[in-house]
Amino acid sequence: MTHPDGIAGPRVRPRRLRSTAAIRRLVAQTDVAPRHLVLPMFVADGLAEPKPIVSMPGVAQHTMDSLRVAADQAVAAGVGGLMLFGVPCAQDKDTIGSGADSADGILNRALAALRADLGDDTVLMADTCLDEFTDHGHCGVVDAAGRVDNDATLDRYGAMAVAQARAGAHMLGPSGMMDGQIAAIRAALDEAGHPDTAVLAYTAKYASAFYGPFRDAVDSSLVGDRRTYQQDPANRAEALRELELDLAEGADAVMVKPAMGYLDVLADVAASTTVPVAAYQVSGEYSMITAAAERGWIDRRAAILESLTSIRRAGASVVLTYWAAEVADWLR
Ligand code: PBG
Repeated sequence: MTHPDGIAGPRVRPRRLRSTAAIRRLVAQTDVAPRHLVLPMFVADGLAEPKPIVSMPGVAQHTMDSLRVAADQAVAAGVGGLMLFGVPCAQDKDTIGSGADSADGILNRALAALRADLGDDTVLMADTCLDEFTDHGHCGVVDAAGRVDNDATLDRYGAMAVAQARAGAHMLGPSGMMDGQIAAIRAALDEAGHPDTAVLAYTAKYASAFYGPFRDAVDSSLVGDRRTYQQDPANRAEALRELELDLAEGADAVMVKPAMGYLDVLADVAASTTVPVAAYQVSGEYSMITAAAERGWIDRRAAILESLTSIRRAGASVVLTYWAAEVADWLR
């Protein structure tokens, strides 16, 4: 190509801004910083020592002691928050998930211990959902016909939320996808004197095969699936309907989950709200990258950083990832 002035080649060259590392750094639109990252952690009752989760190499169910050590390390690395999941002993599970709102339940004990250790130095978050505590493994109470009873479940979520706030959680993550769950939790918190406990709504949570390894992580008892309450992966607009409802019900921040297969949904949600938007890079996303890297098929570190950058680029201000502490350490 020759221009009228005799100079050959294109005048417009996007490669100019890619030509040195310094220029690339200067013009990079998106970054990932430790403060954006939240580490999901599992604490199990009755363990003598941490138990590796086979389908998530590098992640373990913690004992209370190992949880405290790992939480300290994550906070020292600079993560923005911790999201706690409790794994009760099998014999403590029941039809209504009683362990979820008992102060003695494993999750509430762990929240109290971490709040005592960490104070307000990190954002302590709790999974507000019954599935780890029910013997049938569903996220709610099951009726006589075997269906998850939405409204009976809301009462349980309210009680669980209050117990978590009392134990010391700063922010609750209701992940059960029941209708009206944010309003029910907000009302229960306010009535119990916890108006400052924030709610991070799982706004768009899809019925995903990528939760597979998580079910191992929490020793899930689930038989069947969650398709009567989690969203159909085929639906995009529905996420915006869930967003409207969660905001009207009082959500302080919203979340999309999983992340990588749902970046379109994440971008839609981020463009449609003024509240902070989080995304959850779930267990299956973790395990896929881990497995491919173990085989030498992809560059582990580069793939992890690219995945997190993509999630941030799509619009997440907060990213939940099982690599939070490690990546925070890299970025420090
Ligand atoms: C339900 C819950 C799940 C996850 C977080 N909260 C599992 C499910 O909905 O089946 C999945 C997280 C992951 O896969 O990393 N309380």
